[in-house]
Amino acid sequence: MEASATRSGVVQPPREGVNVTAALEDQPLVPYETQRVSYWYFMAALALFVLQLLVGLWLAGGYSFTYPQWVTDALPWGNTRAMHTNLLVLWMLLAFMGGTYYLIPEETEREIYSVKLAYLQLLAFLAVGVTAIIGFAFGWSQGTPILEIPRLLDVFVVIGALIFLFNVGMTVLRGRKTAIGGMLLGGLVFLALLYLFGMPFYENLTIDWFYWWWVVHLWVEGAWELVTAAILAFVLLKVTGVPRRRIEKYLYIEAGLFMFTGIAGTGHHYYWIGAPDLWLWVGGVFSALEVLPIIAMVIDTFLHERDAGRPIQNRVVWTFAVGTAVGHLIGAGVWGFAHTLPQVNYWTHGSQVTASHGHMAFFGAYALLNFTMFWYAIPRLRGIVHYKPGPAFWGFWLMSVAVLGMGLAFGVAGVIQTYVERVLGQGFMVAQQNMQLWFRVVLFLGVFVLAGALVSFWHLFRGEREPGPAEPVG
Ligand code: HEM
Ligand code: HEM
Ligand SMILES: [Fe+2]
Repeated sequence: MEASATRSGVVQPPREGVNVTAALEDQPLVPYETQRVSYWYFMAALALFVLQLLVGLWLAGGYSFTYPQWVTDALPWGNTRAMHTNLLVLWMLLAFMGGTYYLIPEETEREIYSVKLAYLQLLAFLAVGVTAIIGFAFGWSQGTPILEIPRLLDVFVVIGALIFLFNVGMTVLRGRKTAIGGMLLGGLVFLALLYLFGMPFYENLTIDWFYWWWVVHLWVEGAWELVTAAILAFVLLKVTGVPRRRIEKYLYIEAGLFMFTGIAGTGHHYYWIGAPDLWLWVGGVFSALEVLPIIAMVIDTFLHERDAGRPIQNRVVWTFAVGTAVGHLIGAGVWGFAHTLPQVNYWTHGSQVTASHGHMAFFGAYALLNFTMFWYAIPRLRGIVHYKPGPAFWGFWLMSVAVLGMGLAFGVAGVIQTYVERVLGQGFMVAQQNMQLWFRVVLFLGVFVLAGALVSFWHLFRGEREPGPAEPVG
């Protein structure tokens, strides 16, 4: 289905010979017209993700080979790294926003407060994003990693975020109240508030890093976890017959746990920046539990479906959902824990071990979570309940295995780096020489990540209807 047709809001009738259950024939695939705004958020997110991968390959190329000096002068490595990480943040925020616009009408049982504002906000974010990415190429940057966007542009980010929160808030306030809607809104408000702490520059660098982590850590291990839990709960509820109350229980556990693990866990970044010693043990103890509610939610849904004797219908969405639970556990839980104790972090801090964890955690926890939502929503926006899996499975496995391999290769490079630089006390470049082989492995596997992404996204927009019964709930 072409994009214009999607926008026109026409839901295609089931094709001939397709056995759709009575429940679904009564109900349109996309019950609220305003949910369709999410489609454009998803498209923007996917395009930016592909761009992020291309820049990632360029970065890995820079570690693997020596680029001619004029190339490095024209496009310094630090600038391209800023592009890679900021594209990551931008596409993920757009994906979360798209996911929110998709699910909030169904949760609140009403249309989005203002579609115009939703489009305006998308344009604002895209304009800021594109300006920032081009600006990085010319060194226009605030300097703080991952949040390099200059302050002038931050103002527009804040305006965009306020429009978004207002729009979602008004919809939630006027509609049905559910735990999913409440947790999503709470997580989004927290997410936006935290951004403010990263905006000023504090002359005392200890203070500057202290608040930088409020954004970086409290986003990925706090606010984003809440948003993720809400989005995953929504999708699981839709693609299986698990009762709402059984799923929502995990949202409450998540909200309670994150107070301890997410907030106190910030301490694992305060070991070496000049903060009080207290953080050494607070950081070490608290951070490991936070991934549990997400895993438990997926396992419990599986058990429920098995006990009900109901095979999973939407196998693609289910694969991505299980993938995100496992990826979350490995990337954030295991890889995070591996360097969270001060005794270990003392050696590995800021090395490629950190990059190893960064890739596996972001991909496992948040890229796959967003893909779960895309694979639920985009087929529906195209008028199809679920696709024949085919290329989506290939894409999923290609991407996931390649990212896992990339994470391991970064990890080996990091262990070599730690040993050469910190145990043997050799210089940075001596370590780099010994690590180069592993960066080439990263580069090689990165090509497969890109291939997996292209295959699965192609299928996302071209997939065909799978005959058979639809989900038990619409
Ligand atoms: C989905 C959740 C997570 C994501 C996306 C994530 C991502 C990241 C990223 C990108 C960094 C690097 C920041 C930088 O210095 O540039 C980082 C650092 C770190 N993360 Fe995570 N993380 C997650 C969860 C966790 C968990 C659960 C733990 C502990 C169990 C953990 C422990 C750490 C530690 C100790 C560091 C600092 C590494 C260093 O000293 O260089 N992370 N994380
Ligand atoms: C084509 C695949 C990719 C390649 C070749 C690649 C390569 C790289 C390289 C070389 C760096 C710089 C590491 C350093 O600072 O020394 C980097 C940083 C980073 N990349 Fe990627 N990347 C890829 C895909 C991804 C994906 C899919 C994600 C997340 C979903 C991601 C998230 C990050 C993050 C968070 C950092 C900063 C890590 C840190 O703070 O230590 N990258 N990437
Ligand atoms: Fe953290």
